[in-house]
Amino acid sequence: MKNRIRELLGIRYPIIQAPMNWVSGADLTAAVSNAGGLGTLGPNAGAEGITPDAEETAERMRIQIRRVKALTAKPFAVNIVAGFGELLVYSQKIVDVVLEEAVPVAIVSVGRPDIYTGVLKDAGIRVLHAISTPRHGIKAEEAGVDAVICEGYEAGGHKGFTELTTLTLTPMVADAVSIPVVAGGGIGDARGILAALALGADGAYMGTRFMATKESESHANVKAAIVAGKDICTASVPKDFMLARDLTNDFTRTYHEMRAAGASPVALNEFLNAHSQYQAQHLGEADTAEICCGQVAGLIDEIPSVKDLMADMVQNIGVQFEALKQRLAGLV
Ligand SMILES: Cc1cc2nc3c(=O)[nH]c(=O)nc-3n(C[C@H](O)[C@H](O)[C@H](O)COP(=O)(O)O)c2cc1C
Repeated sequence: MKNRIRELLGIRYPIIQAPMNWVSGADLTAAVSNAGGLGTLGPNAGAEGITPDAEETAERMRIQIRRVKALTAKPFAVNIVAGFGELLVYSQKIVDVVLEEAVPVAIVSVGRPDIYTGVLKDAGIRVLHAISTPRHGIKAEEAGVDAVICEGYEAGGHKGFTELTTLTLTPMVADAVSIPVVAGGGIGDARGILAALALGADGAYMGTRFMATKESESHANVKAAIVAGKDICTASVPKDFMLARDLTNDFTRTYHEMRAAGASPVALNEFLNAHSQYQAQHLGEADTAEICCGQVAGLIDEIPSVKDLMADMVQNIGVQFEALKQRLAGLV
């Protein structure tokens, strides 16, 4: 049997660097693709500041796409955060740029799969859609996406309202759809990649582990906070539009205190906007602003280059597989 994600995407290893707002810029994306995985540009890649302008947002992405193309000839992806309502203005502009720049792969998240899949696929772009329930996996397959990405509760960032973990979500989705499945949330090393494949996935999707690399755009203070994080170092943060998982800090503590005290949705949103990911990831306010981060941070104790990380993980897949076979000896 062949690996369907490698074949679909034309990559050497079925390892996808997940998109991360303010974190996954051109250097990280190209480094992952050059190392044999699939790198992904995230929202605000390479940006110096916040802009409410959809046109400017899209043109900033065009510059990053061209930079990736200058750094690698390998396939890479762009994240399209589809959104709803008036936010579709932003995603439509990103889709236009993705089409104009003939980006090989689109990773679509936070939105319906039937909005952009057709137009992207007509242009020959591979479409991967992020989901957090089997029901959404079936809808994505019906909409014609090439593969689905399971985002479990362990994952860093925003991912629907469900609390299905990667361990439960992935096999449910693998049973529910016939297209390739990628597992994400909680994967930080070769053991996690093997586990993803054992659950029925064709590939692994990793955000937090790649955030803590030399090439990521995260501020040094954020990288240091991830390394300092031990065991229970993240918290689930309920927002009015989604659950997020963040690194535990003064921001998460205050937010939870405000909710417990009955703060209004307006007050909570004001607090979120005043302590945004931009402030943590770009300005380095790692104690007081939001750092989206997965539970796997507890496994991370160094900031390697992408090349070293990928080489280490790939080599260890073989080592861990041998160890697994030993543990299975006599059972199969
Ligand atoms: C800092 C950070 C920012 C993120 N931003 C986005 C985003 O802009 N778009 C998106 O689809 N997912 C985003 N995510 C979710 C990731 O793409 C991915 O689902 C998640 O990192 C996988 O779990 P892991 O962190 O345990 O590897 C973000 C995650 C992190 C950690």
